[in-house]
Amino acid sequence: MMTKISFIVAFMIVFFTGIAYGYDKQESQNLIMSEMVTLDKAFKTAIDAVLLNQLERIAPAFEDVHKVREQVEHAVKEREKIVLPKNQSLFKVFVRLDNRFHHEVEILVDASKKKNMKAVQRQVSRLLNMCVRCHGLFRK
Ligand code: HEC
Repeated sequence: MMTKISFIVAFMIVFFTGIAYGYDKQESQNLIMSEMVTLDKAFKTAIDAVLLNQLERIAPAFEDVHKVREQVEHAVKEREKIVLPKNQSLFKVFVRLDNRFHHEVEILVDASKKKNMKAVQRQVSRLLNMCVRCHGLFRK
């Protein structure tokens, strides 16, 4: 009887820890994914803004990116585990590239507010190169 109960208890512990761990992992993985989804949307708006000469669309498009970005930054600072879908061992490289990337986003947003089309174009192509470079490392 006792062994049966302890077996059930042990099973439940393993089961619920598994759920909690899985949830945690999913949560932090979602953080990177939601960063990417909002980034993707904002970046496409930025491309349209260049093509259609509507630079005023850029700053509002990146507002959501800033919000998710703050969550990522917070998680990194608090040393909460951020799970990358692939290449977790290169996490420090990811953080460095991500920081650099967001610095360039700031330059883009500033240039768009100043209606500086030349600088906006330069930043859009610089950012595109950075998307490709980071994906080359982390989507393999
Ligand atoms: C600092 C690294 C980094 C940069 C810069 C970066 N990404 Fe990503 N991106 C990732 C990672 C990591 C993933 C998830 C890897 C995977 O899908 O296996 C990802 C995934 C994505 C996805 C797929 C999301 C999905 O649902 O599968 C899209 C779309 C995306 N990124 C868009 C962009 C765009 C657009 C840019 C540039 C404007 C960009 N990313 C810049 C690291 C980056």
